[in-house]
Amino acid sequence: MPIVLDCDPGHDDAIALLLALASPEVELLGVTTTYGNQTLEKTTANALRVLELAGRTDVPVAAGADRPLVRELAVAAHVHGDSGLDGPVLPAPTTRPIEDDAVTFTAGVVAEAAIPVTLVPVGPLTNVARVIERTGGEGIEGIVLMGGAIAEGNVTPAAEFNAWADPEAAQAVFASGLPVTMIGLDVTHRAVTTPEIQGRLRSTGAIGTFVADLVDFFTVYHRETYGWDGAPIHDAVAVASLIDPSLVTTTRCNVEVELESELCRGRTVVDRWRRTDRPPNAHVGVDLDTARFFSLLTERIARLDA
Ligand code: BDR
Ligand code: CA
Repeated sequence: MPIVLDCDPGHDDAIALLLALASPEVELLGVTTTYGNQTLEKTTANALRVLELAGRTDVPVAAGADRPLVRELAVAAHVHGDSGLDGPVLPAPTTRPIEDDAVTFTAGVVAEAAIPVTLVPVGPLTNVARVIERTGGEGIEGIVLMGGAIAEGNVTPAAEFNAWADPEAAQAVFASGLPVTMIGLDVTHRAVTTPEIQGRLRSTGAIGTFVADLVDFFTVYHRETYGWDGAPIHDAVAVASLIDPSLVTTTRCNVEVELESELCRGRTVVDRWRRTDRPPNAHVGVDLDTARFFSLLTERIARLDA
């Protein structure tokens, strides 16, 4: 399955990228970057660094949005650190992004691909909203995004970070008429590492150790906030759901994004129990097979070290 990963690395973004690289079920046509966990400059450098670590500088990286469609830029340095990928130290990248920006690159890829391409946004949705506007959805098989939540928030009590960061873009994606799968916090908060999983990752070698070191840093925020002895690998769940769709249980329903209220900005209003007659526009994740998700993740990360 051909995919373009749109990301803001970001600890869990980096792990999602490594999972995609290790998995023959997905063909990674390119990586596009957005502001989000840190500024665009930093997230783009981080994407290049991770590809270099994995020996995959052949994968093109196209830099995208440096701010939301209409809102002020806000980054998640309190979660991901000053570099956006604090914890393990990676050298500065020796490669550069391609000339084309993320939207031009993705529009070109979907126009030329022999079979429709799945977009996998795991950061704010600015780039993908623009790609949909540019292409009219032509050549796009569907969108499998990490973002939103049915029942909780992480950046505010009401909203998940990616949906909150650019709610106008998120609303455009849900309203696009394309097949959309939402992997939100209800699912990804079931993808929390344990010390045992950390041990398994470390035992696989250098890349597994890098992943475990990322998780160690990512755990600091989650321990303080939730009291967890691990961290949720949000973005890797979106990629894993493409590799093995049986990992995530979804339900088809309507999702709208709150744009008016400041209190509830970016809330994904999920009509799980059909309280309205708004037509379903998304497959919304409601459950995860946690044990099998981590088996897949550790087994695939081990392949990169083999
Ligand atoms: C999402 O926000 C970012 O911090 C993570 O990378 C993930 O994509 C979780 O709310
Ligand atoms: Ca992300």
